[in-house]
Amino acid sequence: MDAIRIIHDEHRSLAAVLHGMLYLVRDTRLRASAPRFDVLGAMVYYIDAFPERFHHPKEDAYLFKFLRMRNPEAGPLVTQLESEHRAGAEKIRVLEQALERYEYGGAREFPGFAEAVQAYAAFHWDHMRTEEDKLLPLARLHLTTADWAEIDSAFLGHTDPLFGPAVGDEYDALFRRIVNLAPPPIGVGPTR
Ligand SMILES: [Fe+2]
Ligand SMILES: [Fe+2]
Repeated sequence: MDAIRIIHDEHRSLAAVLHGMLYLVRDTRLRASAPRFDVLGAMVYYIDAFPERFHHPKEDAYLFKFLRMRNPEAGPLVTQLESEHRAGAEKIRVLEQALERYEYGGAREFPGFAEAVQAYAAFHWDHMRTEEDKLLPLARLHLTTADWAEIDSAFLGHTDPLFGPAVGDEYDALFRRIVNLAPPPIGVGPTR
């Protein structure tokens, strides 16, 4: 099942960026290091674009749809995860706003930004854990081979150009940009 592997990979990329953001926030708090708005901006953009426009829509349109159809008892879980996808879009706006306030308002806006980062990371980790621990095992159990063929094809980018390899490559490039910008130990970028 390519889709399951792809979901795990995409969760790992997203988790890496969330960890990186938390690291930068902690570094500023503990060592009063200068904020790295270039890195933070690229991270927030990634979190907005990658899960919100690429990862969640595929889950909604294929995996969730088939699971709801094959296993009506999973309905409440699917509804919960779908509503988290919608809530995520709202939460990322809060994070964007908090970053903007911090960038233009300076240190007094740092606590609000730090809180927004923590809240978003905790929310998204819970979401990914629920998908991996609850939804994927049910999908393995209830979906048919034909269902998986269709889901895999969509996740491999063969179904909809919006989820195609070219779009996937753009997100990979964005991820590499973050790694190249971010200072060690989260990336290989310059220390300032
Ligand atoms: Fe999701
Ligand atoms: Fe997911």
